[in-house]
Amino acid sequence: MNLSSVVGGRPVEGAPGGTLASVNPARLDDVVAEVALADAGTFVAACRAAREARRAWAEVPAPVRGRAIAAVGRIVEANKEALARLVTRETGKPYAEALGEVQEVIDTCDFFLGEGRRLYGQTVPSEMPDKQLFTFRVPVGVLAVVTAGNFPVAVPSWYLVPALLAGNAVVWKPAEYTAASALALHDMCVAGGLPRGVLDLVLADGERTFAGLELSLEQGLVDKIGFTGSSAVGARIGELAGRHLQSPCLELGGKNPMVITPSAELGVAVEGALFSGFGTAGQRCTSLGTVIVHESVHDDFIAGFSAAVAAARIGDPTQDVLYGPMLDPRFAKRFEGYLDWIADHHKTLGSSGLGRITAANPRRGFVGDPEAGLYYHPVVVDGVRPGDRLFLEETFGPVVGVTTYRSLPEAIELANAPGYGLSSSIYTSDPAEAFGFRRGVSAGMVSVNNSTSGAEAHLPFGGNGRSGNGSRQSGMWMLDQVTRWQAMNWDYSGRLQKAQMDVARLEPDLAFRLAPDSD
Ligand code: UN1
Repeated sequence: MNLSSVVGGRPVEGAPGGTLASVNPARLDDVVAEVALADAGTFVAACRAAREARRAWAEVPAPVRGRAIAAVGRIVEANKEALARLVTRETGKPYAEALGEVQEVIDTCDFFLGEGRRLYGQTVPSEMPDKQLFTFRVPVGVLAVVTAGNFPVAVPSWYLVPALLAGNAVVWKPAEYTAASALALHDMCVAGGLPRGVLDLVLADGERTFAGLELSLEQGLVDKIGFTGSSAVGARIGELAGRHLQSPCLELGGKNPMVITPSAELGVAVEGALFSGFGTAGQRCTSLGTVIVHESVHDDFIAGFSAAVAAARIGDPTQDVLYGPMLDPRFAKRFEGYLDWIADHHKTLGSSGLGRITAANPRRGFVGDPEAGLYYHPVVVDGVRPGDRLFLEETFGPVVGVTTYRSLPEAIELANAPGYGLSSSIYTSDPAEAFGFRRGVSAGMVSVNNSTSGAEAHLPFGGNGRSGNGSRQSGMWMLDQVTRWQAMNWDYSGRLQKAQMDVARLEPDLAFRLAPDSD
């Protein structure tokens, strides 16, 4: 399969940014697609095409745009298994998770299709007679959306679906190593009835994308950036957007804490830690970073957790496994670097080896041939301390740190210390602890007796601090990212009525008091 960018609704000829093979990380000899990469000029051309397409799309009545989103949802639903198989093949996430990811696209379409018949504005009373106030939501214009490959279709749909519904045109730059999944979603959106150029796709590397974005902003072609990826790149995007007086929608990394209190159901907590620590091979932005367990239950938790991790089925993602390979060789290499942060004061648990799973470094019970793909041992690192890099930095991969606490304020301080603020979780049967944690934790999302992963598609998703700039995706909150409020006032009195000055006055008697014996 040869893939290329789509600009103005047409495939782009040539590969000015070089070519790249999108490879199945579970079977490195399986090339999913040969990808022709674009350059900065292609990105600018796509933004220009979007600029041309956006007006006519904004003129389409919102309920009609909602019908297009409904159609996209039905088309994705009809192709659910095929798309999930492609996502598994290209990312290595287990098929059950890929089905869940595709379901998240369908859920997002289902949520927003009705918004086409709402997109409510308000009618507001004026302070003067014969005058009426209104508010309208207006599309921002052209969105440039740059997304990561760990959720190659669900997370992009969080931007694309509401942006298109609200009447924007979108230029989407997906992760180039999941280009086939991205093109599949793009084609399904177009099949939903989008006019040419309303959704274009640019396949390019990070540096060329950044250069294209910079040029497009300078030429006034982009009105809003959506970015999901690392905190470091997010900061660069934020800086660039700021120079153009724009506030981007940023969804960045996480070092998501899980607090386990003495009143926790330990079995449930172990299940949650296993799923959020190692699901998607720890490569979700909501993946568990550090378990902060009360010292009185530390030993019991560690015993249960390390046994569960040791027993977990890992391997071929087309089988029933907890997780498969790393997403891509770059992620695998970076993960090996994180493993170097394991120090003498740490104790590692959870597998029969450390690092890459091979014939010489086997994992007990591995499903399939470990040498065929980029498979890594899961590792639980006990004894992590607040000064450790393992405690402070995001470690995208199958590693979970464990540390202890004595009081809830200390647990909250530890949860917030790395400075991220995406997801968090607490296991407790005490409402005061649950709400106390919610109040104190800096995260945008808080789970009680549930893992840090698995946000539903209609609650606000996003973070603070190193996890983002406070923007929120998903549900109705996303409308504030893809539309702007326009206020309108209409004076039909036939004369100039000056606000604040020509307002009728009532004469209150502020000195009025009840008579002392009136009760
Ligand atoms: C991500 O990792 O970027 O909450 C998104 C979850 C998923 C989305 C993760 N629904 O884990």
